[in-house]
Amino acid sequence: KKIGVLYGGLSAEREVSLKSGAAVHGALQDQGYNAVTIDVGRDLAKALERERIEVAFICLHGRYGEDGAVQGLLELMGIPYTGSGVLASALAMNKIFAKQVFAASGLTVASYRVLRRGEELELAGLDFGFPLVVKPSQEGSSVGVSIVKQVESLPAAFAEAFRYDEEILVEQFIKGREIQVGILDDHAMGAIEIVPKNEFYDFEAKYTEGMAEHICPPVLPPELYLRLLAQGEAAHRALGCSGYSRVDFLVTEAGECYLLEVNTLPGMTALSLLPEIAQKEAGIGFGELVERIACGAAQ
Ligand code: DAL
Ligand code: MG
Repeated sequence: KKIGVLYGGLSAEREVSLKSGAAVHGALQDQGYNAVTIDVGRDLAKALERERIEVAFICLHGRYGEDGAVQGLLELMGIPYTGSGVLASALAMNKIFAKQVFAASGLTVASYRVLRRGEELELAGLDFGFPLVVKPSQEGSSVGVSIVKQVESLPAAFAEAFRYDEEILVEQFIKGREIQVGILDDHAMGAIEIVPKNEFYDFEAKYTEGMAEHICPPVLPPELYLRLLAQGEAAHRALGCSGYSRVDFLVTEAGECYLLEVNTLPGMTALSLLPEIAQKEAGIGFGELVERIACGAAQ
């Protein structure tokens, strides 16, 4: 079957997506698949018709690709695609709706307040104080995210987050270890801890070699490790995700697992975490990972 690797796209994570897509395309070709890359723009429907692909392997991150938009177009055109469907993708991409679903499912999330453009934040009304985290509702790779330690720094943080979205979150800062759970075929494969050299696992730490240490498997008491994997699966299920995802947590010293988000189209670059979890925790190499994700599309 002819597989189209959809990459690039229109989001702030375009460059990351180009790398993910190139890696996936290479792996598919190495394994003898007939695969082409398609850079996703507003003329995607025409490109899909022209290329006559039979399966779409989606390697888009962020808006229009990870949020259900491209999935909707593929549904309409009757082209099977990898990963989660329209609803789960849209929910996972919107941090505000995702938090509501997580909380309703009994998963622990940080307290937050939603701010729309033009609204003022009433600090007195918050049930948490500084430091706090400001982030756009629908972005990935920590684009537009700031940790704010004092009130004077809030306007700049708001301006930065509003560059990317009409709705932003002001979130309680959780002091904890960054640990992520990798899901494949709807089951947790394992986890990885990230120790960033920057203040948090920001865009630079995510994509610059040497800017974050990866510890896989993470060093955790067995009970906590198993609880984390179970909560990762629960988060994936709560949003109705399909196949694979990467679920990000902050784990406090007291062993509380704060769920940050589910990435329905996690990075697949050389420094990416899902491939590393697959390799080190489940013995699944990049080629096999890609093949298993592709096979999920046909079902
Ligand atoms: N949003 C990036 C690509 C990730 O989650 O890996
Ligand atoms: Mg993300």
